[in-house]
Amino acid sequence: MLGKTRSADEILMAKPLLNVLAGQAIHPAPIWLMRQAGRYLPEYRKTRAKAASFLEFCFTPDLAVEASLQPIRRFALDGVILFSDILVLPHALGRKVVFVEGKGPVLEPLRHAHELDRLTPQAVRESLAAVFETLRRLRQELPKDVTLIGFAGAPWTVACYMVEGEGSRDFQAVRRLAYREPALFARLIGLLTDSTIDYLSAQIEAGAETLQIFDSWAGSLAEAELRRWSLEPLTRIVAALKQRHPEVPVILFPRGAGVLYREFALASGAAALSLDSSLPLAWAAEELQQRTTLQGNLDPLLLLEGGDAMREGAERILRMLGNGPFVFNLGHGILPDTPPEHVAELVDLVRGWKASTTA
Ligand code: CP3
Repeated sequence: MLGKTRSADEILMAKPLLNVLAGQAIHPAPIWLMRQAGRYLPEYRKTRAKAASFLEFCFTPDLAVEASLQPIRRFALDGVILFSDILVLPHALGRKVVFVEGKGPVLEPLRHAHELDRLTPQAVRESLAAVFETLRRLRQELPKDVTLIGFAGAPWTVACYMVEGEGSRDFQAVRRLAYREPALFARLIGLLTDSTIDYLSAQIEAGAETLQIFDSWAGSLAEAELRRWSLEPLTRIVAALKQRHPEVPVILFPRGAGVLYREFALASGAAALSLDSSLPLAWAAEELQQRTTLQGNLDPLLLLEGGDAMREGAERILRMLGNGPFVFNLGHGILPDTPPEHVAELVDLVRGWKASTTA
């Protein structure tokens, strides 16, 4: 019995990211970066060229495992994030999704009840079998101290792309639909919430050790709508996952939620909140970090620029948040023109931070 407990502890101790998500403050802070796999890496571009389309790339485990592992071969990161995309879910639900070179994702816009009736939530696990295979292989190939991160888009952000049919500056079509036909929109969000619970549960069963849910467009919503279409569905997802898999921590990224981050800290049940770059650090330390692990929030443009500005930005974040339970990350994903050497320098800085400030 005792031996069993000890070995469980040893496994936990070996994974700094999981320890921090369990609420411990650790020096140096663990680090991983949103969109750490991608076009800024020349080896990614080589792997990408082997697939005819981006979705084929995501659904070919050999290629997706390779892309997931590329960042940790270069950098001493604490997490590997599954290589996939938030828009594999609408694809699995039966919507047409294509990634157009130089433009981004394009979907057939969903605006009517009859289109909603044709979605296929029962097909999600089977359609996404390749994603689960990628996770199983990653779990086997991962270094012992590295944590495997699964992910999905939040219902609101996925609905943004499904209704608009593409990226948008202000997401007017989806926000107007939510105002004009709240009952229809609630059905869409409900269906996405249930499907996301199912999809993320299957990711855990395939080996994901933590999950991040990206609500990249939460900040486009007004206050009441942010509660209804972002906070409430995310709270329901966290509760359902906790019931099925209480040991797996969930990280929420309600980008642009501003002072409503406080309600996510109080009510969502998440293990950690990922902060966007605009959130004031002193406020976050005071209002959020007492209650939850924080992650973030270096401006991705500072990582692209590098130099003194990047170093000062990163050190400020570490000074303000680094003494509580904290995971170093960006405030949004790595930009394609980011020089990989800047990433290497940032990782070294975060790893060396305690030594240089306590000396
Ligand atoms: O390291 C990783 O994080 C890789 C896995 C990953 C991708 N997309 C791969 C990808 C993750 C976690 C995502 C999340 C994602 N996808 C979000 C949420 C995070 C955010 O950035 O806000 C969103 C909104 C999407 C939807 C999406 N996918 C867009 C808008 C685009 C086009 C813009 C762009 O960055 O290219 C994609 C394509 C995409 N997803 C690429 C990658 C590596 C680039 C496509 C390519 O390489 O051909």
